[in-house]
Amino acid sequence: MIISVIGTGYVGLVSGTCFSEMGNSVTCVDKNKEKIRQLNQGIVPIYEPGLEGLIQRNQKNKNLFFSTSIKDSVKHSDIIFIAVGTPTLDNGAADLIQVREVAKEIGRSITKKTLIVNKSTAPVGTCNLIQGIISKELIQRNLSLAFEVISNPEFLKEGDAISDFMKPDRIVIGVDSEDAFQLMKELYSPFFRTRDRFIRMDVKSAEMTKYAANAMLATKISFINEIANICELVGADVNQVRVGVGSDSRIGYNFIYPGIGYGGTCFPKDISALIKLSLKHNYEPKLLASVDEVNEGQKKLFLKKLLSRFGEDLSNFTFGIWGLSFKPETDDMRKSPSIFIVNQLCKRGAKVRVYDPKSMKNAKEKYFSKLDLFYGENKYQIIENIDALILLTEWKEFRSPDFSELKSKMRLPIIFDGRNQYNAFDLNKKDFEYYQIGKNKYGR
Ligand code: UDX
Repeated sequence: MIISVIGTGYVGLVSGTCFSEMGNSVTCVDKNKEKIRQLNQGIVPIYEPGLEGLIQRNQKNKNLFFSTSIKDSVKHSDIIFIAVGTPTLDNGAADLIQVREVAKEIGRSITKKTLIVNKSTAPVGTCNLIQGIISKELIQRNLSLAFEVISNPEFLKEGDAISDFMKPDRIVIGVDSEDAFQLMKELYSPFFRTRDRFIRMDVKSAEMTKYAANAMLATKISFINEIANICELVGADVNQVRVGVGSDSRIGYNFIYPGIGYGGTCFPKDISALIKLSLKHNYEPKLLASVDEVNEGQKKLFLKKLLSRFGEDLSNFTFGIWGLSFKPETDDMRKSPSIFIVNQLCKRGAKVRVYDPKSMKNAKEKYFSKLDLFYGENKYQIIENIDALILLTEWKEFRSPDFSELKSKMRLPIIFDGRNQYNAFDLNKKDFEYYQIGKNKYGR
């Protein structure tokens, strides 16, 4: 099939690349000329395991192309995917300006029967909006072309994006016609070896499914974080509680790891957009508002713990930070708790030394350009003479560090762990003062 994917963010770039890997001819389009120039040279703007190799291979095989022109690419396409950003407006709603612009350009450009698939996470009703914009453009062109706008939300996770896309749990397809459903089935069938996992539903339900899935996942995280906070107060250990609770198959072990709160763009943005959508329909979503509130509070509680150990004035202290990205295996720092923590430490006069395996460039250029930080080349370089090590992202390389090296280089053997990576008992035996989430200082 001939496919256009408009938007080369995580969703667009990964989807387009994986479709090309299955033998389709795919053009990924973006208005950002520099990004397209780099992609045309095989340079990938984000760190996502496996992505660069797949892009380069499919470019070489002439299955994958990059362009800045919607017009040139969509006129030959059987299917057009819209995968542009829907960032949060100041009022919390999703900003649909890019979706509108793309819809307009599609309406001005298509020349044959086309299926338009929205993959951007956008409020219920967005497919209708796109349909209306395209129809208006076609009327102006005096053209009556058959086209349909359907919803196909994307559930991939950063860091696992390729395998999530190649081996999906499910493909949700929100359609009104059998033809469109069959075309999507044909496109996705190569991704299922054993059994098909298509879930067909109406367009609005598919749009809602994406928000509901992210809201449910975010709720699980805020729930366990709240339980962790209570555990700390009553002297229980959230790690033991998590295992006890997760063993109930109705609850499950996944996605109930306590920490310093979720980051990334999806959860914060989608919770906010869903709240706004509900309010627009005169419903006040109390649970969703609390999910967001607990999440915001989590990083503040972590800081509070640190301040109660060192005091409000940190000008005599130096801290080392391990991990800046919002999760491991990505260089993405959007809404990462590290932004808040590093800024707060600096604001209180602390010296801060940071290390992350992939986010250092992003940190320097986009997030901490106004701060005077020391950027280490490896995890041990930043621990010299620090008063405490603060672990913010659970990258694998932080899992079993050489604790004797830490102890010999750090001024004080104190670890604040925002991701519960270590065994408190072992660390206490090694004379570390170890603080975690959802356990008191000495843990188990
Ligand atoms: C999420 C959804 O998982 C994905 O389906 C959707 O398409 C986009 O949003 P992503 O944001 O890439 O994906 O990362 P995810 O692995 O879900 O983690 C999100 C945040 O939750 C991270 O900050 C992570 O540290 C945090 N998290 C996750 C926890 O604090 N505890 C957990 O148990 C799981």
